[in-house]
Amino acid sequence: MPRLKLPAHAVPPGLKPAPPRPGTGNGRLGPLDQAAEAGITVVDWIDERTSLSGGLRWMLFRKVPKGTNWFYTLGSAAMFAFLSQAVTGVFLAMYYDPSPTHAYESIRYVTNDAFLGQFVRGMHKWGSSVMVILVFLHMGRTFFFGAYKYPRELNWVIGVVLLILTMTMSFTGYLLPFDQRAYWATIVGVNINGTGPLIGPYLSDFLRGGGEFGATTLSRFYAIHMLLVPGLIVALIGAHLYLVTKLGTTAPPWSKAEETPELREAEV
Ligand code: HEM
Repeated sequence: MPRLKLPAHAVPPGLKPAPPRPGTGNGRLGPLDQAAEAGITVVDWIDERTSLSGGLRWMLFRKVPKGTNWFYTLGSAAMFAFLSQAVTGVFLAMYYDPSPTHAYESIRYVTNDAFLGQFVRGMHKWGSSVMVILVFLHMGRTFFFGAYKYPRELNWVIGVVLLILTMTMSFTGYLLPFDQRAYWATIVGVNINGTGPLIGPYLSDFLRGGGEFGATTLSRFYAIHMLLVPGLIVALIGAHLYLVTKLGTTAPPWSKAEETPELREAEV
């Protein structure tokens, strides 16, 4: 049978022509519709190449047990306290100079002269206490709700490391203003570390950057406070949240399992 030759863009026999697309009516999009669809197109373009929406759906659309309450928000609150510390810390680092002769002066400049400096420094300083309190409250919630038990033991262990790292942030940050209080309090803290069994003396030598407290100590504390510990915290929060998503949250201890008569029948 001879093949039917159709002109380009012609509608095959038996099919209706497609309705005109919104916009000008000539099949093309008007400028307003193009602008409205631009965002969707960009998101689609990225998603087609990365499949990120699948991961996002996996993370966000989860079953949550009945009876979850405000206590379950403490982990997220701790995470937002950390994010606030990260953002305010970046701005403080723009002015801070970790040398024994300039550190105090650079902090004085931030507090008294820089635009919104006192506000940003205040947020960072008070935020550090807020974060410690929130992490402790969150740990208490997971403990009293029995969330440390099987299968979430690993998440508890990661949490303990996060707690130690949060305390390390407070300890190393305390020295940075390099005033009398910071200096003497850190000497006491480093000496306390030195009394620990086996690794104690090595730990205090590492923190001091040698046997004596000096310029190296300050730059060492700055590097630990700015780079090492925040990097570890980010990585561990990632692992912590992955496990929360994978395992789900624990139901409150007072909530009872739903009655399932079919299962009871199967038991007999
Ligand atoms: C930087 C510190 C921390 C952050 C940002 C953080 C964040 C979170 C978040 C967002 C959740 C899910 C929501 C919730 O249950 O509150 C969670 C769950 C959990 N966290 Fe943390 N956490 C931190 C420290 C800790 C600590 C110190 C522990 C314990 C030692 C811990 C143990 C757990 C456990 C066991 C769960 C699972 C809870 C459940 O199944 O109900 N976390 N964490």
